[in-house]
Amino acid sequence: MNRIQTELASLIKKKILSDGPMTFRDFMSAALFHETHGFYTQAPSIGSPTGPFDTNAKFTAFGFAVAQAISQAAQHISGPPRVLELGGGTGQLGACIMSFLTIPHEYMVLETSQGLRKIQAEQGLLTVETLKGLEPAASIVFGNEVLDALPVHRVMGLADNEVCELFVDVDEKGELCEQPGDLSTPQLLQRLQDEHIHLGRGHVAELCLEIEPFLQELIRVVRPGYIIFVDYGDKASNIYSYRHRNGTLRCYYQQQHIHDSFFAIGEQDMTADVDFTAVVSKATALGLELAGWTSQGTWLTNLGIQQYVGTGRDSLSRQREVDLLTGKASLGSTFDVLMFKTHGLPDGPGLHP
Ligand SMILES: C[S@@+](CC[C@H](N)C(=O)[O-])C[C@H]1O[C@@H](n2cnc3c(N)ncnc32)[C@H](O)[C@@H]1O
Repeated sequence: MNRIQTELASLIKKKILSDGPMTFRDFMSAALFHETHGFYTQAPSIGSPTGPFDTNAKFTAFGFAVAQAISQAAQHISGPPRVLELGGGTGQLGACIMSFLTIPHEYMVLETSQGLRKIQAEQGLLTVETLKGLEPAASIVFGNEVLDALPVHRVMGLADNEVCELFVDVDEKGELCEQPGDLSTPQLLQRLQDEHIHLGRGHVAELCLEIEPFLQELIRVVRPGYIIFVDYGDKASNIYSYRHRNGTLRCYYQQQHIHDSFFAIGEQDMTADVDFTAVVSKATALGLELAGWTSQGTWLTNLGIQQYVGTGRDSLSRQREVDLLTGKASLGSTFDVLMFKTHGLPDGPGLHP
């Protein structure tokens, strides 16, 4: 397919021609969050038939079960919790969770995109662009598919156990391309060493260095509390295995899976599998404790998602939603749930039937 020459693609090329090649991380950050033309800045209609992709947020049953998780976690915290949703998308999930929450609480969405914050506010949600200025409070933090949107660096194995980084450059035809170069930061090599990852010649991998600062910002305001992530990803040994020798980076454009990162810059989503090993090791190094790690299907089932079905006239369609969200051959095994807690709290909700 021919690339779509977007305004953002022209701006990025101009910048590269004046400043030199940029890291893939900086390119992805611009593609998703550029102040005017970024994919998320332009408030994509996630979950609609004409939107770029669907998420769990589309299903009321999911919001029902997350509300159960929040209510259960709140029992271990004194006083009404602050519920902080990370990356609220169209606000559909936040509004749905709030509609099922019967406990006293304060609901807040942390959202980078100005366009999405506006849509979330229209749904009655209180939104913040940053956590700076927010006081620490008893909190339950929840993020569905937010870690997979954090920008990643791309590296590639060379001969003799060396590793290079892939930068975004402009080729002789004026098209964006990837070019190998020296690592932009020693943290990349450190991450590979920490995770005992060896990349053979030509093996490409995405490394997300944003996990640590993202968690650090969160931890400051969660005193005490739980942080729950639902996302696609795997242990480092699987993500960086030879099976994924071209990496896990992918793009979505109008519900289609696109393999070219430069196809429709600013109009397509870009995402990579989450390295759960890195998330756990960074979170625990920052003082959190792992409060549970399970599949979405098991988690939702343990939370009692089946109660959502009921016996009403729409119970068949409700059961279909539940089956889709929990099934081993569907979303139930596509997503994992990672839960963290501050010291002294019991394990997270939904771990046991
Ligand atoms: C894949 S969408 C998921 C949206 C929603 N949670 C859902 O399930 O439909 C990622 C969301 O995270 C937001 N986001 C990405 N990086 C973020 C960050 N560092 N802080 C807050 N929100 C972020 C995006 O703007 C977007 O709303």
